[in-house]
Parts: sequence; C-alpha cells; structure tokens
Amino acid sequence: MKIEPLSKVMGAEVTGVNLNGPLTPAERDQLYQAFLDHLVLCVRGQSFADVGAFLNGARHFGAPKIQHMESFRFDDHPEAGVVSSEDRDVKDGKRIIRGTMFHTDESFIATPPKATILYAIDVPSRGGDTRYVNMRRAYETLPDETKNEIGELTAVHYYGKKRAGRKVPSLTEAQMAETPPVSHPVVRTHPETGAKALYAHETMTDYIAGMAPEASESLLRRLYDHSTQNPELQYHHQWRSGDFVIWDNRATLHAATADYDAHEKRLLYRTMLKGAATH
Ligand SMILES: [Fe+2]
Repeated sequence: MKIEPLSKVMGAEVTGVNLNGPLTPAERDQLYQAFLDHLVLCVRGQSFADVGAFLNGARHFGAPKIQHMESFRFDDHPEAGVVSSEDRDVKDGKRIIRGTMFHTDESFIATPPKATILYAIDVPSRGGDTRYVNMRRAYETLPDETKNEIGELTAVHYYGKKRAGRKVPSLTEAQMAETPPVSHPVVRTHPETGAKALYAHETMTDYIAGMAPEASESLLRRLYDHSTQNPELQYHHQWRSGDFVIWDNRATLHAATADYDAHEKRLLYRTMLKGAATH
C-alpha cells in the first residue's frame, strides 16, 4: 500500500489496496490514520461488484448509516444511495445537481455522519470535480480575536432555513417534520484527533444561538467568506472511474461542480458513516 498527498492543503491518494478483501489490522489502522490526517482519502482503482460490496468496503472505516434522503437511496440497501447525472427533484421533477454550495453533510441532524464516501463508476470526460475546504485550516487561519469571539458559540442548523439563491432538494412534509432545527458548536473539537475546526456553512447553518439577527448574520457571513473564498484552503478532486473517496465531515466542507456536459453520464455510489453527538 502506498499513500501520497494529493495537494499541500489536504487529501491523499492510496494505491495498492483492494477494499473488497479483508485487510490486516495494520493495514486498516494505516488507512484510518491517513483518513484522519489528510481529511480526504482517495483509494484508487477499486472495483465493487455491486452496492453491497461497496458497503462492505465502506465498513473498513466505520458503520454506514441509513440515508436520510429516501428518494435517492437503494430499496434493498438503505445505507447507500446514488449520485447521478439523472437525479430529479422529488417535488418538481426537474433535473438537479445536488450539493453545489459548500456544505458538510447532514449537519441538520443532531448526530451528523462522521464521514461520507463516494465511489465513482461513471465520470464525465471533464468537469464534475468535488471541491473541498479544509475547515481545520480555516479555523487556524482566523484572526485571534475571531477565534476568541466564536470559541464558545453555538449555531442552529436547519434544513428549512430561509435561503437566498440556490435551493436544496425538497423534503416531503413527513421528512420536514422529522428534521427540526438542531444546534452544534461553531468550533468543533474533533473527537478522534482533538483538533479544532470551524463548523458552519451557509447551506444549513441558520443563526448563532442567543445573538441578535443582524449580528449573527454578519458574523456568519465573515466565517462563510473566510472558509469558502480562499483557494489556499481548497482541494479540488478530479474523479477517475474506480475512485473510492472518503472525507471527514467533522473538519471539511465540500461542493459539487455543475460544469460538465449534460449529455455525459456521471454515476457514483454514496454512503455516510455514523457519527457521534457534537457536544
Ligand atoms: Fe454533500
């Protein structure tokens, strides 16, 4: 097994390992440590016979959770879903490319998934990169006064928040009723590494608890701009067929890029691994 950095910001590439098979405890530890260190880990050249085999590969890193979005998941494997160039919104049936705004997955629930995994089956000849932000570094590069200002703050995350601009996929009324607002610390201490990371993103973070609306908006805007407008904090993953990419939702943001040819097929399997309470 070989592990090499993909960029100076974050990400590592793993070659010479087959996730279909059993791994030795040493191999598994090495892979898991690389995931914690690099935040995004791309295991190249994987080939899973079906979605069940993909989930078994994912289990080397943790326990897959049932997907929240019923509409995009497999009936016989509810822990897995597809991300496809054929995705349609559940309500209006329009073609959508999900997740084009920077976000961390399912921060709108109390125990967000610790990691998300995508496995690329079909990728367009160009475009369709997944962009990542290193939120550990985003925190580290904040001015000291901002670090002090936000150190003890809590933010409310809500799927139904009012958003200007791009929308998120519709949830049914029943799903919305099961998705009330939840709160998370703005600075999240990683339960496995102890490192602090910024944990706020425009897609689901609604407001800072206990702060006047204007002050909350202006502080959050500063944090969003700091984290997402700086290329020095980003790694862009160019997909190859056979890539198995796992990222740490506790210390990264990610966004899809809707820049590929609409006639080209893009198909990935997706799962998320169970996480723990954030505070
Ligand atoms: Fe996502």
